[in-house]
Amino acid sequence: MRAPAILLSLFLGALAQHGSHWTYYEGALDQKYWPDHYAACGGQRQSPINVQRKMVRYNPALKDLKLTGYEAQEGEFPMTNNGHTVEIKLPPTMRMMTTDGTEYIAEQMHFHWGGGSSEMSGSEHTIDGIRSMIEIHVVHYNSKYKSYHVAKEAPNGLAVMAALCEVQENGENTYYSEFFSHLQNIRYRGQRTTLTGLDIRDMLPVNLNSYYTYWGSLTTPPCTENVLWFLLAEPVRLSRTQIWKLENSLLDHQNKTLHNDYRRTQPLNNRVVEANFNYFSNPCE
Ligand SMILES: *[C@@H]1O[C@H](CO)[C@@H](O)[C@H](O)[C@H]1NC(C)=O
Repeated sequence: MRAPAILLSLFLGALAQHGSHWTYYEGALDQKYWPDHYAACGGQRQSPINVQRKMVRYNPALKDLKLTGYEAQEGEFPMTNNGHTVEIKLPPTMRMMTTDGTEYIAEQMHFHWGGGSSEMSGSEHTIDGIRSMIEIHVVHYNSKYKSYHVAKEAPNGLAVMAALCEVQENGENTYYSEFFSHLQNIRYRGQRTTLTGLDIRDMLPVNLNSYYTYWGSLTTPPCTENVLWFLLAEPVRLSRTQIWKLENSLLDHQNKTLHNDYRRTQPLNNRVVEANFNYFSNPCE
């Protein structure tokens, strides 16, 4: 009984990896079919989620994230259109330490956005049901593993710092100028450009000290459930023009404009979202 099932799942796995392209909203590998090809996508600890603030547990023992190497760095940083998003490769000198002393090494940063005709917002996590314009993910792996490739399939392998983006009415966010000036170089899937110099700290919210945290998964296939999430409470602000540029610059594997590259929120099941700040004690926020 078992062997054929294993063979079948190996076959389906190979098909999913080499056969077609997974997508968000259309085709045979639309997100509602991900679990048929990538079993973990149908698991009980999936991401993203809706953060319902009145259900969040304040945990005063959670400390600030300790970040090193996030400030301005010289060098060359590859930026790629991988057909699903724009991804910036990050240097391993960027590290994040969590409350329990676990150190995570930065691997890459990417974005999720909306821009489709019926829906403008495209963050993955929602807060009290509200979807933000854009979501930024800074992906790290646990330093106890030799590399990202080992960690991405291992227990407690990954940590993602996520930030939501909102509209800034008064002018552009100039910390993003270099990023936006390079987007036009990677219109087609597979194209790559190089950022010279990088300051991730300035591309993130001013306040990195307030966050929601929970155990979840990658939000793209194979949806591995080994991700410790840190969703920052304060947003990044970008101008409408900048948001429009991100929504309209890149094409997918079929040369269609990459819109709405976000996964729908997943059931929380028996998980609890914790925060290191007490929202309800600060009604002025
Ligand atoms: C997308 O457009 C580029 C440039 O015109 C072309 O080289 C490529 O073959 C196109 N790909 C598809 C899938 O149509």
